[in-house]
Amino acid sequence: MRAVDIINKKKYGNALTTDEIRFIVDGYTKGEIPDYQMSALCMAIYFQSMDSREIADLTMAMVKSGDEVDLSAINGIKVDKHSTGGVGDKISLIVIPLVASVGIPVAKMSGRGLGHTGGTVDKLESISGFKIELTPNAFIENVNRYKMAIVGQSGNLTPADKKIYALRDVTGTIDSIPLIASSIMSKKIASGADAIVLDVKVGSGAFMKELKDARALAETMVAIGKSLDRKTVAVITNMDQPLGHEIGNANEVTEAIAVLSGRGDADERHVALTIASHMCVLGGAFREVSDAYKHLETVIASGEALQFLKTFIRIQGGDETIVDDPAKLPAATKHIEVKADIEGYITGLDAEKIGLAAMLLGAGRKTKEDPIDYAAGITLSKKIGDYVNFGDVLCLLHTNVDDVLEAEKQIRSAYRFSTQQPEALQYVIDIIS
Ligand code: URA
Repeated sequence: MRAVDIINKKKYGNALTTDEIRFIVDGYTKGEIPDYQMSALCMAIYFQSMDSREIADLTMAMVKSGDEVDLSAINGIKVDKHSTGGVGDKISLIVIPLVASVGIPVAKMSGRGLGHTGGTVDKLESISGFKIELTPNAFIENVNRYKMAIVGQSGNLTPADKKIYALRDVTGTIDSIPLIASSIMSKKIASGADAIVLDVKVGSGAFMKELKDARALAETMVAIGKSLDRKTVAVITNMDQPLGHEIGNANEVTEAIAVLSGRGDADERHVALTIASHMCVLGGAFREVSDAYKHLETVIASGEALQFLKTFIRIQGGDETIVDDPAKLPAATKHIEVKADIEGYITGLDAEKIGLAAMLLGAGRKTKEDPIDYAAGITLSKKIGDYVNFGDVLCLLHTNVDDVLEAEKQIRSAYRFSTQQPEALQYVIDIIS
């Protein structure tokens, strides 16, 4: 078999065989196939796409390129969730305690943030003592005993995806549905979940800016999950503006606590309850999503959700007292108001620009090696649909950096105003199962 023949085959729009896909993925992972051939193939896939059998084969070839986590020692249906990435997305912090409270094992693998999007691992590490590196035994023990645990992605999980993703990043081949779907699903399958709920974001802060693309990505990932015997549901959710009011690591922990206390914003509360309800149904605790939703509301109202959050933090070595006293979380030295220089309704709040501004304030990293400031972030005082008067505070910047000019410029360019009130945003747009 020769890589060049496989590239040509895809270039002319033909389906690759299972063996050809394995040959390419194995050869590239081992360094036998060079970057230039793999990038040519990714570009051919970008233009010619893949059918569902090819995408499933590509997913499995990436799964088999490294370690697979064996969760068979955990009793019950292990559920996981994955977000395609957003700004202010603290949904995992909310759903883990909620789903665990109904006795469904949540065995969560999470990543760090990169670029304008945040990562669950960084948010949790803003809690003093919280350990994201658990031994496989400790992970399994915590899930069996407490129904919840989280770990960072292990070194040798889907190494093919790691290499291919880095190559796609610099060859203009990120935004390809077969490549994104196989990349995400390979990690979920290698990490051992039986059931997966995907939060597919659509809008200004998401990979998929258009609903038709988000729907196609969701359908592709659900089909991969089903073909590999994993119960999979995709929830398409709005990312036309950041979720909630808080962006940044410690800030988002504070807001997750608010939601689990029965406060928090309607958008993140509804998205979190919807995703958690689907996890409860896939895990077998409820037949109907609406029943799960109603039950989880009572879990929040009774204070049980907060108790589960405390337990979650404690069993991972973290300081659970931050739940009653979030002021113990890292705090920035500077708090700078950004005020409106215009009047009118806010009609747009570009989530990607707000995410980039948060990164410039220290909350995120440009490259994987960059340090992160857990205290940095943004509190949005006004969001889409709000009316602002001249001089009203649009948002508050929390930072330890001296120069905030570029961040402020990004933020001002993120807002759009009009004299007309915009239609209310739909937080949960569609469910694909
Ligand atoms: N997230 C991933 O893990 N992979 C992609 O290709 C895109 C988003």
